[in-house]
Amino acid sequence: MLINSLSTGMSPRVFGFLLSALTTVSLAQLPATLITNVEHRATISLNGPWHAIVDPYDTGLKDYRSHLRSKDGFFQNAMPQTPQDLIEYNFDKSETLNVPGDWNTQRPSLLFYESTVWYEKSFSYHPKPHTRAFLHVGAANYFSIVGVNGAVVCDHEGGFTTFNCEVTQQLREGENFVVIYVNNQRKPEGVPTLSTDWWNYGGLTREVQLVEVPQRFIQDSFIHLMPGTRDQLAGWIKLSDATADQRVTVRIPELAIEKTFNTDRTGLAEFSFSDKRLQLWSPDHPKLYRVEIETGINELRDKVEDEIGFRSIEVHGHDILLNGDPIFLRGVSIHEEAPYSSGRANSEEDAKTLLGWAKELGANFVRLAHYPHNEHMLRMADRLGLMVWSEIPVYWDIKWDNPSTLANAQNQLTENITRDKNRASIVIWSVGNETPVTDARTNFMRTLVKTARGLDSTRLISAALQVQHTNAQHRDGTTRIIDDPLGADLDVLGCNEYIGWYEGKPEDADKASWKSPYNKPLIMSEFGGSARAGLHGNPDVRFTEEWQEDLYKHQTAMLDRIPFLRGTSPWILMDFRSPRRLLPGIQDFYNRKGLVSDQGAKKKAFYILKKWYEMKEMVEHPGH
Ligand code: GCU
Repeated sequence: MLINSLSTGMSPRVFGFLLSALTTVSLAQLPATLITNVEHRATISLNGPWHAIVDPYDTGLKDYRSHLRSKDGFFQNAMPQTPQDLIEYNFDKSETLNVPGDWNTQRPSLLFYESTVWYEKSFSYHPKPHTRAFLHVGAANYFSIVGVNGAVVCDHEGGFTTFNCEVTQQLREGENFVVIYVNNQRKPEGVPTLSTDWWNYGGLTREVQLVEVPQRFIQDSFIHLMPGTRDQLAGWIKLSDATADQRVTVRIPELAIEKTFNTDRTGLAEFSFSDKRLQLWSPDHPKLYRVEIETGINELRDKVEDEIGFRSIEVHGHDILLNGDPIFLRGVSIHEEAPYSSGRANSEEDAKTLLGWAKELGANFVRLAHYPHNEHMLRMADRLGLMVWSEIPVYWDIKWDNPSTLANAQNQLTENITRDKNRASIVIWSVGNETPVTDARTNFMRTLVKTARGLDSTRLISAALQVQHTNAQHRDGTTRIIDDPLGADLDVLGCNEYIGWYEGKPEDADKASWKSPYNKPLIMSEFGGSARAGLHGNPDVRFTEEWQEDLYKHQTAMLDRIPFLRGTSPWILMDFRSPRRLLPGIQDFYNRKGLVSDQGAKKKAFYILKKWYEMKEMVEHPGH
């Protein structure tokens, strides 16, 4: 990974070690250059049509014999200078693909395409004095290499997290071009690995923009309510360079709060202060405050603002406490797929539609599966008052004993937490889904739990576990036992079960009960069954809406009988594309477990869950 790190003089590991005792976050774990809160920064959008070269054999990257990187790859964006010149590619003459957007749903010929596409965008730019520029990529699935004006500036692995690279040195007055190589081939050592039950959408799936900042700027910040308090705010601000005694001001204009702090020699300013007038964020009252952070003067002045909610989230025995009060997480799982058009969701509009349906269900919680979703989803959840389970794609069976796979997973977790830690809606960081119970896996997952706690001690950590219904040891008769060893390391147990679909008949749930040796809250993170919208028949006919409706009736009755259940996120809000769903006329490459079809048709089961959530809310807030 090529990264031009900021001028700290000390390797992040050394001063991270020195400081980690001091801060709520260990600096060593922070991505060296990830600028957060780009949404509120001066940016130049590079969205829109990009020229695209489909390159299945990596001809533009590697020498055809050695397969080693060739120096005159497509990053050069070369043009023949004379009629004799042999240049066998031409971005200007190549068709375009829209950014943001996956390539699969933009051209039928690319629906199943899993290899390389080169993206090129030319733009004019005017460098400003005392100003640095970073190229910010919202997400590029899966592996990408970025070049500016012919120079390779950085690369990135992971299809669902944000990264940015400094390009100040590469940009010039007038015409410039950026070339981004994107490859979405699945790899055994990848995260995720070879098999997933979602479509492997490739490309520049989220915004690409240039971010302009002063020479020294506010690189990152974290401001949150101290757990267990209702009025104590705390946090830190990290400047882009390790300079001591820099004044940093935090303002909350609505509360007339203005506080100034000084950085230490690593460029970090920590703070805490209290205010009794603070209104806390909750699903019923999603209160957000405009927070301003400012530092420096004149050309070194930098100011960012953000909309931040303050709330605490804790566990106490079997209870999940939001702002100190027990709460039931009435949720639904969601994939980052665009309603109606399919393909990757990546707009505020998509977020409004998907989260709007969740609200219609009576949800106060959503599980964003199985990877970090775009920032629109999180900011919309902040505004709509939906608590969020955020997850990294450690999914099914990855290479547990491969150190680079672990580093990759840790990096994705770190980038996820770094981007979204100021989102009040996020209450749970999940380190994975349905991972097999082996020692190598449990050690791997424990390392991720530690990483997450090191980065953010204010949220709950979970994972979607499974009770292998075939594995009698976790059953005593009809009682299922959630005793996965990883449960000991989690704050909240997540569990996926498919009674009535992959296991037995819907009515089998009537006999099922659940227990766990852990005195912890349980979120049933997946349950459900498939139905083709509009297909009707007897409830004992699979894929009919009546089967799914019946399944939800039996499920909700079973769930009501689990004493330590504190949340549910059934699988899934909307039908979504999957390469594993091949049944003609029913699935047609769609997983049909949605409560809503991909065209927005609500299935009968939608109303069963809606009624159950209404009842749950009444129990929680009698007379509401
Ligand atoms: C699994 C998995 C999901 C999958 C679902 C299903 O539990 O976590 O990603 O789509 O089951 O089989 O529909």
